Amino acid sequence: MPPTAHPPPIDRALRGRLLWYRDDPARAGPAARAYVEDGLLLVGDGRVVAAGPAADLADRLPAGMRAIDHGPHLLVPGFIDAHIHFPQVQVVASHGAALLDWLQRYTFVEEQRFADPAHAAANARFFVDELLRNGTTSAVVFSSVHPGAAEALHAEAHGRSMRLAIGKVMMDRGAPPALLDTAETGYRDAKALIERWHERGRQTSAIAPRFALTSTPEQLAAAGRLAREHPDCLVETHIAENLREIEAVRAAFPEDRDYASVYDRFGLLGPRTLLGHCLHLSADEIALIAERGAVAVFCPTSNGFLGSGLFDWARMREAGVRVAVATDIGGGTSYSMLVTIGEAYKVLHLQGQSLAPDAAFHAITRGNAEALGLADRIGSFEPGLEADVAVLDSRATPAMRHRMEAARTIEEELFVLATMGDDRAVAATYLAGAPAHRR
Ligand code: GUN
Ligand code: ZN
Repeated sequence: MPPTAHPPPIDRALRGRLLWYRDDPARAGPAARAYVEDGLLLVGDGRVVAAGPAADLADRLPAGMRAIDHGPHLLVPGFIDAHIHFPQVQVVASHGAALLDWLQRYTFVEEQRFADPAHAAANARFFVDELLRNGTTSAVVFSSVHPGAAEALHAEAHGRSMRLAIGKVMMDRGAPPALLDTAETGYRDAKALIERWHERGRQTSAIAPRFALTSTPEQLAAAGRLAREHPDCLVETHIAENLREIEAVRAAFPEDRDYASVYDRFGLLGPRTLLGHCLHLSADEIALIAERGAVAVFCPTSNGFLGSGLFDWARMREAGVRVAVATDIGGGTSYSMLVTIGEAYKVLHLQGQSLAPDAAFHAITRGNAEALGLADRIGSFEPGLEADVAVLDSRATPAMRHRMEAARTIEEELFVLATMGDDRAVAATYLAGAPAHRR
């Protein structure tokens, strides 16, 4: 909803230090950051009515309403995870394999359990709880192949007013038979989920052909048809994560110039497409992805854990490719977007690049919202946006407290959170202005 002349009545107020981004610091410099030392966030009907200095806004509090005081803590827009696998919550920490073996040995085994609705429902509760404990208030999710698992996760998130985009994975080859749909049933089941859940409350649907190795050309064509029929749905998939994967794609699609061209041929590369990994792309592929306006999703803990490679953000930026940041649980090893940007810093540093604290915090809030086409709904504290909030405690552990004694600037504090922070640094989480987690 855009800011209106008639904002809803204020029904909640949060007090603390406020920090959000009005623009991309890479473009606008430090002026992109809004920081208020003693701030009020006024909420009405789940949306931001105003965010600014308490001294300016206190007289807008309705008679008798007291702000919830978060003291010295930092209130930031809830984190957004651009790529995470719901049925991999018990795959995390599977030892000793690179992508293709990891999929066969661990992931495709575990994902079969999500055929059971009770298992899916119990794991949906865990998944949502765990995201909220980590200050993540929105995510783009791969579910399993089973429509019932996506249904269970939508229902759980809908009941909590959590904004999730969920894709029923489409896969009709390259996995155990119990995990396969067909071009026809994958299309039909995904379409039924879109019709049932897309834009219902805060739920949206994503179209999720897993990757080129687990879909026949017929299924990729069906996924492309879905994307054409539902142009406002996100498309989520994987590309160029692993060298053996790329060789196998070349063998499976000999008529295509390269991996990106496979997705492009089936109408799967567009401004709503989120491409997990993008580690080993050719210059031609990067140029094509930039031209289509698709998003490269940087998954640092996963890329390290699976030994996949180093994401080159500077190369993407120079080529004009949009970038998002994600955990990629369960190839990824942490649900925390703080840990994720801490690992992103190290991966970029290894390549002579420097991820600034503002760039990192922008990436996991407003930057990811932009990548998802949701910057008019989430990712900052501008009036009219949905009031998702993470309350951060920069002194959450003895080591952080001790380090913070020597911190002088807000940039230093952000970098302490990125380097040392995790779920312990999330003191509270709000969804649409309502409390959703308290440490
Ligand atoms: N490529 C295809 N499927 C997957 C998956 O589940 N995780 C990761 N990291 N890569 C993939
Ligand atoms: Zn993934």
